[in-house]
Amino acid sequence: MRDEFRKANTMRGILPLAALLAAGILAPSRAQSTATTLWLEDMDLAPASQSYGRPHIRKTIIDKPITLGGRVFDHGVGAHARFTLRVRLSGSPCRFSSIVGVDDETVKLGSVRFKATVDGKLAVDSGVLKGGDAPKAISLNLAGAHELLLVVGDAGDGIAYDHADWADARFDYSGAPPETVAEPREVAVSLTPKPSPKPRVNGPKAFGVRPNAPFLYTIPATGRLPMNYSASGLPKGLKVDAKTGRISGCVAARGTYNATLIARNALGVSKRPFRIVVGDTLALTPPMGWNSWYCFLNRVTDKDVRAAADAMVRTGMIDHGYSYVNIDDCWAIKPNSSDPALSGEPRDAEGRINSNKRFPDMKALTDYIHAKGLKTGIYSSPGPLTCAGFVGSYQHEEQDARRFSDWGFDFLKYDWCSMTQVSGGLELSKLEKPYRQMSAILKRQPRDIVLNLCQYGMGDVWKWGRDVGGNSWRTTGDLGAATSLADSMYAIGLGQNGLEKWAGPGHWNDPDYLLIGTITWEGAMRPTPLTPNEQYTYVSLWAVLAAPMFFSGDMTRLDAFTLSLLTNDEVLDVDLDRLGRQGRRVWKGEDAQVWARFLEDGTRAVALLNTGEAPVKVTARFADFGMRGTQPVRDLWRQRAVGRFNGSYSAVVPRHGVVFVKVGSPAHE
Ligand code: GAL
Repeated sequence: MRDEFRKANTMRGILPLAALLAAGILAPSRAQSTATTLWLEDMDLAPASQSYGRPHIRKTIIDKPITLGGRVFDHGVGAHARFTLRVRLSGSPCRFSSIVGVDDETVKLGSVRFKATVDGKLAVDSGVLKGGDAPKAISLNLAGAHELLLVVGDAGDGIAYDHADWADARFDYSGAPPETVAEPREVAVSLTPKPSPKPRVNGPKAFGVRPNAPFLYTIPATGRLPMNYSASGLPKGLKVDAKTGRISGCVAARGTYNATLIARNALGVSKRPFRIVVGDTLALTPPMGWNSWYCFLNRVTDKDVRAAADAMVRTGMIDHGYSYVNIDDCWAIKPNSSDPALSGEPRDAEGRINSNKRFPDMKALTDYIHAKGLKTGIYSSPGPLTCAGFVGSYQHEEQDARRFSDWGFDFLKYDWCSMTQVSGGLELSKLEKPYRQMSAILKRQPRDIVLNLCQYGMGDVWKWGRDVGGNSWRTTGDLGAATSLADSMYAIGLGQNGLEKWAGPGHWNDPDYLLIGTITWEGAMRPTPLTPNEQYTYVSLWAVLAAPMFFSGDMTRLDAFTLSLLTNDEVLDVDLDRLGRQGRRVWKGEDAQVWARFLEDGTRAVALLNTGEAPVKVTARFADFGMRGTQPVRDLWRQRAVGRFNGSYSAVVPRHGVVFVKVGSPAHE
């Protein structure tokens, strides 16, 4: 009997539990009497990454006794998909064993897939295990091995009810004890070339403005200073400041004006088409800027926002097309707050909303930001309170919009938060109502104010966000409200697939901010937990998605690597492409995916992604994105030609990394 099992199963290290019990081979410590036993639950589980909660010791993820196939286990770790844990091994004799499955507590819900990789090679694959399925036993001989990677995948259907038990998980070893280790973190290498001293005009090639609304646009350009800025073909009413590159004024006549922006220095000249559409649509390209939330949360002050604006100029982000400096929640009064800086009268005698003491003079603040050639945004909720408990706009919508306009804001994030308390339900008409109302009010203001809907994707907001007047809409919950940021970035970013048909110039899907650089994470300001490769994936994917590019880390502590991620003009050109066609997934393998986006010049931006734990060769077949024959391939991060390829392009992509290329010859503009 024993031999039968060996033959059938040992190649995968997987043995059916009942069979193992019957064969009496489930007691490794007895079998290896000289070995020391180390239970998985007694190891340091801090390095484990998990999509929901944290691993529980000797209990399930919801703190119940670990139970598989009706049997209760005293030992084990109650995990949750998607889970990874890396263990360093000494190479001496060692065996890992465990009984794995979806805990009985889910009552036949949930589906997972356990895997173990030894020194980069797959050694165990449980196949899909559903709630109620018989558990499986793992028994792995690790003699001579140096690294074991334990993984629980979600079996491709999301993580709901994926209560994954590593029951009786143990190492029986001699020599140095196995030790859990942190995920590998590759060295951060800036691939973005330093901008040339010659001029290059960057940023969007299309710009929407309403008739007679104040126009402010700073020509973004890199190159050695002094630079002389000019433009041809501007509509009547606009002028360029040759020294600062600021275009201001206002245009009375509706129409489409094909202007050209020009930057000239001692080394040369650069020109870039700039289509100004005077009409009803703002945000013809995805907005780019900074948002205070993941840097300051509820601590944000006027001083911080000014410092962010200063840094946007000082770091040169403004020269790459970043323009919004946006305040998130927590600028208004917080009712019942014991903090004197936040308490006070929520509104003045006329009912106009007040800022709290951290924002002593909003008009002075927006003037300060505008004087730098930048724009600025504010935040409110249609409900009585914002998500952080500050005063919202409920029953003061008209007054608040006017106030935001008078103060000089150019952007409003309107966050559902407490609206459920007063909306009377979550039916479609009720979800739409506050946004329809606010967009109609904003249209009556003399300023152009871009409207960002934030309601976490309820009621498939992408299907109606445009109709209610939104310029962008968050499609999901908060990217930063996760135990694993990498997991959240992947879940949200890759989860945008299928939403592409709802995005376009003036109306964008918003998968949330860029949580890179220094952010508030796990209660403190610290470097993003994302690895460098994950950060490349993040920015590349957001560009493919035509996502609003809002950096939400600390502008005053922008390190060179983060800045290089944010300011790659060829990558940003993908995001800002004037066609505005959001990309989508064109191929999916086990750990690899290919995403592609059609660009205005007839080429495609193509991202080869590796979501897995080991390097993998990924092939982008041209036919999958409507191309044939031999095509030039250009590496967008390195900004250089890779070569010409026939029919497909393949690259080895590192763990959680990306290779981001442009395929095809650009048609002339
Ligand atoms: C959340 C929103 C976040 C942030 C936060 C402020 O609802 O999704 O992006 O604005 O509220 O309290």
